[in-house]
Amino acid sequence: MFDIATIRQQFPILTVEAHPGVPLIYLDSAASSQKPTAVIEAMNAYYRTYNSNVHRGIHALSEAATDAYESARQQIADFINADYAETIFTRNATESINLIAYSWGRQNLQPGDEILITAMEHHANIVPWQIISEMTGATVRHIPFTADGTLDLSNLDTLLTERTKLFAFTAVSNVFGTINPVRQLVDAAHAVGAIAVVDGAQAVPHSPVDVKAWDADFMVFSSHKMGGPTGVGILYGKCALLEAMPPYMGGGDMIRRVSLEKSTWNELPYKFEAGTPAIAEGIGLGAAVTYLSALGMENVHAHEQTITHYAYEAMHTVPGLTIIGPGAAERGGLCAFTLAGAHPHDIAQLLDEDGIAVRAGHHCAMPLHKILGISATARASFYVHTTTTEIDQLVTSLHRVRKILRL
Ligand code: ALA
Repeated sequence: MFDIATIRQQFPILTVEAHPGVPLIYLDSAASSQKPTAVIEAMNAYYRTYNSNVHRGIHALSEAATDAYESARQQIADFINADYAETIFTRNATESINLIAYSWGRQNLQPGDEILITAMEHHANIVPWQIISEMTGATVRHIPFTADGTLDLSNLDTLLTERTKLFAFTAVSNVFGTINPVRQLVDAAHAVGAIAVVDGAQAVPHSPVDVKAWDADFMVFSSHKMGGPTGVGILYGKCALLEAMPPYMGGGDMIRRVSLEKSTWNELPYKFEAGTPAIAEGIGLGAAVTYLSALGMENVHAHEQTITHYAYEAMHTVPGLTIIGPGAAERGGLCAFTLAGAHPHDIAQLLDEDGIAVRAGHHCAMPLHKILGISATARASFYVHTTTTEIDQLVTSLHRVRKILRL
């Protein structure tokens, strides 16, 4: 059941003070989420009672660690409706995209080929494609966005053509909050024979995601934005694509046989998991998806919609404040904004004096900000524990910012 008072008790950090006597109001979940007790305890239990390497030992602790780690993989696979073999542990969404670029990209791209991205991508979904295009001779093109921060699909036919081999786009913008039409874009990619890579970093933590319903060829996300620990993320890929791809990194666990002359590769998903993995973190992510599943992702999404609508209205009562991106109904749980006459870093610093944590800067989306003609925005982002009272406090504090800066 989605009871906000109970949920808040499940996040121990929400009782800490940001500064002596100043309670914390955490509005930076899009950068990294806070962790529920269930996740902290799951990792704690691993280190306290069965810490050991996975896939290697024939002793009790190693078997317990392997069971917990592989059960977590199954839980994560179920959470996004993927199969076990298609669910690969990486370090984060960024590493997952780099894995696709280096492994699939180097094998499949050549001069004349095109990679299509969008102008609202996070750097993690821009830079790897630029690097791989330089290596292979392929070209990177992009879909622009409209004034309200939605994708401008009016010229999609000229951008997405038979030259396009891969179309990579975010499901939800980490700056505009725009919820993109994933299935429509995947279908458009497939219609020209391209594969579709979906950046789910800002989607998987906040709403139900079904990779089969999306028909995505690849989908990536990070644990730390969904109540899980840092240091672990997921690459989902369709089995046939993953089978045909060469390994990304070589080492232990990803091999079947090694001789001094030649090696052969382990089966999926292990082929892409060289070296001792982040075991506690994988188990922690498993606990996070169990926690979110118990809340119900439909409920998580509905709560964030309520908070986002409330914030969108309330923040607009602050004179000079502009929220970039689409209206509240078309966005995920975040509002990036400018305040006329104030630098976003000053806004964030003054809000911090009131215990309010927001992110300020380009949010790893410099091209988006450059197109808008601004260097930075401040961003308030929400999660399962965010309350309307906290939004009211944000608005009160924004009025204080205006007063201090004499706006
Ligand atoms: N991608 C993360 C953000 O938007 C770091 O803040």
